[in-house]
Amino acid sequence: MSLLILNNITKSFGAIQALNGVDLSIAAGEAVGLMGDNGAGKSTLMKVIAGNFPPTSGEIRIDDKKVEFHKPLDARKAGIEIVYQDLALCDNLTAGANVFLGRELKKKVGPFSMLDYPAMYEKAGALFAELKSETRPRDLVRQMSGGQRQAVAIARTRLSDPKLVLMDEPTAAISVRQVAEVLALINRLKETGHAVILVSHRMPDVFEVCDRVAVLRRGAKVADKKISETSPEEVTGLIIGAIEAA
Ligand SMILES: Nc1ncnc2c1ncn2[C@@H]1O[C@H](COP(=O)(O)OP(=O)(O)O)[C@@H](O)[C@H]1O
Ligand SMILES: [Mg+2]
Repeated sequence: MSLLILNNITKSFGAIQALNGVDLSIAAGEAVGLMGDNGAGKSTLMKVIAGNFPPTSGEIRIDDKKVEFHKPLDARKAGIEIVYQDLALCDNLTAGANVFLGRELKKKVGPFSMLDYPAMYEKAGALFAELKSETRPRDLVRQMSGGQRQAVAIARTRLSDPKLVLMDEPTAAISVRQVAEVLALINRLKETGHAVILVSHRMPDVFEVCDRVAVLRRGAKVADKKISETSPEEVTGLIIGAIEAA
C-alpha cells in the first residue's frame, strides 16, 4: 500500500505554473528519485509535500487519508521530514544541539526547566550510530565534513521517526567520499522502513539507491519508472525533452 499519494497537484506562483497535474505515490521502504532540469518544479513539489505552502489544487493522501498542510509542522506531525538543499544547520552549534534544534529536551531542576544536554547528546549519539556515521555529538558543525553535516541533517529528520524523508539535492556540493556516506545513509533509512524521495541531478546516485525514478519537465511528470526498467540514457532524454515521455 502507498504511504503517500499525490493526485493531480498543481502550483502556480502568479503567472508561473511550477507544477501541472503531478501524480506520485511512494510506499514504505521505497526510495524514489525525482529528477528534472533546473526550474522543472522539483523543489516546489518537495515544499508542497513538506507543508511549506499548499498546492493551488490537487490532493495529498497519507495512509489513504486526505490531508491538508498549512505549515511545515502539520507535515511533520503527519510523519514527513525534509532535508533542505542548504541543510539549514547552525554552524556555531554542536552536532547534538543541531539535531535537537527547536525541540530541545528539558529537565526540571526544582522550579526551573533546564536544557538537558546529556540526554540530547546521548540520543544524538545513538542516532549517529544507527546511521553508521562517525559524527560525534559534541563536535561543532562548523568543523565538519559535508558528509558529517549531512548525517546531522538526516539524524535531525529521524528524531520524530518519520514515515517519509524528503531530500532536496543532498549530494550537490560534496566530495565523492561524502556522497558515498550520504547514499549509505539513504540505504539505512530504507532498511528501517522509511520512504525517501531523493531530488538529485546525479544520475549515478539515483541509479544506486532508488527503486524508482520520476522525471519532471516544466512542471509535469513525464515518466515514473522502476530503475530496473530504465537507463541513465533514457532518463537523460526525458529530462532534456529528447524523449517526450516514457
Ligand atoms: N517562491 C516562488 N515564487 C515564485 N516562483 C517560484 C517560487 N519557487 C519556485 N518558483 C518558480 O517555479 C519554477 C520551479 O522552480 P523549482 O521548484 O525551484 O525548480 P527545481 O527545484 O526543479 O529547479 C521555476 O520557474 C521557479 O522560478
Ligand atoms: Mg530545486
